[in-house]
Amino acid sequence: DKGGHKHFMSKEIAEQPIVIGDALSHYLTTDGKDIVLPEIDFTQISRMTMVACGTAFYACLTAKYWFEQLARMPVEIDVASEFRYREPPIEATSAALFVSQSGETADTLAALRYCKGKAGSILSVVNVPESSIARESDIALPILAGTEIGVASTKAFTCQLTVLLLLALRAGHQRGHISDEALADHLSNLRSLPGILSHALSQTTGIEEASAELAEARDILFLGRGVMYPLAHEGALKLKEISYIHAEAYASGELKHGPIALIDQSVPVVVLAPCDSLFDKTVSNMQEVMARHGRVLLITDKKGEATASAGVWKSIVMPQVSDVLTPILYALPAQLLAYHTAIAKGTDVDQPRNLAKSVTVE
Ligand code: M6R
Repeated sequence: DKGGHKHFMSKEIAEQPIVIGDALSHYLTTDGKDIVLPEIDFTQISRMTMVACGTAFYACLTAKYWFEQLARMPVEIDVASEFRYREPPIEATSAALFVSQSGETADTLAALRYCKGKAGSILSVVNVPESSIARESDIALPILAGTEIGVASTKAFTCQLTVLLLLALRAGHQRGHISDEALADHLSNLRSLPGILSHALSQTTGIEEASAELAEARDILFLGRGVMYPLAHEGALKLKEISYIHAEAYASGELKHGPIALIDQSVPVVVLAPCDSLFDKTVSNMQEVMARHGRVLLITDKKGEATASAGVWKSIVMPQVSDVLTPILYALPAQLLAYHTAIAKGTDVDQPRNLAKSVTVE
């Protein structure tokens, strides 16, 4: 049942405020002031190894920034198909964490089995609690996104991020890098997130207009820095999957190491840049694009728009949230751009060619 939506993907995008709210109710105490998670002692864990495929891998890439910044915890990440064959040494003091919507992805499951008996604990973040990955983990954390039918993952991604952020906050608190007050602030910000996401989903005209033009492009670049870098990858993957337009993501600072050679008027460049501590750096990369007649679609907040939108092709203004929460919020315009571009192209949004929802063979 598409619940009045044309596609499962748009239904699942729209459900995000609700399912993230569900995940928060599950993982927070009733007063919302503490995190409820199975007993994991992060002070005894020397390193986290996170492994996944596709969108779930970009959730891991985002989580790496969070665990490093909030918990000062070393994190190694890899895509499962590489990890499983590179025979990485795994220390007994490390924890291995696997992220998978389906819980049945063949490479991710093989990577988990490789870590068994090597890592001190095997954790997973899954949407299907009965899945193989969940069953074979020491601790499986459900993301509570509900059934996801669209091949392009949307609500599972933001629910994965929500659970991973709670883990990083718990780790930071246990390891003494987040004070009681700071934790209370983070949790209060998280509790207001579903409302902010609903608001963002109600203002999508700019995204639809931009998408109509993106649909004409042959190649599109996505740029981001810091926690927006994983999001740039997620935006590019979503667009490729359902609109079949070639899209690449780069860390903004990598632009001048090669990809800037691609820039001309025909290549739209989507810049994901909330006005955070790295904003000025990203803006200067964006100006390098504009100096070469690149068409910039800037996704930012009010403050970012006020300071940096001169000369951009279009800007999309997102609500203001704390820096830690921007990856969850900015996932929405990334998903919506892909969705509306695909609609403009007339492709099969829910069942894109060549793709399966669950990749159970390697
Ligand atoms: O079920 P999983 O989360 O393990 O699936 C991993 C990838 O196959 C999946 O995220 C894929 O990249 C999606 N189609 C992305 O939209």
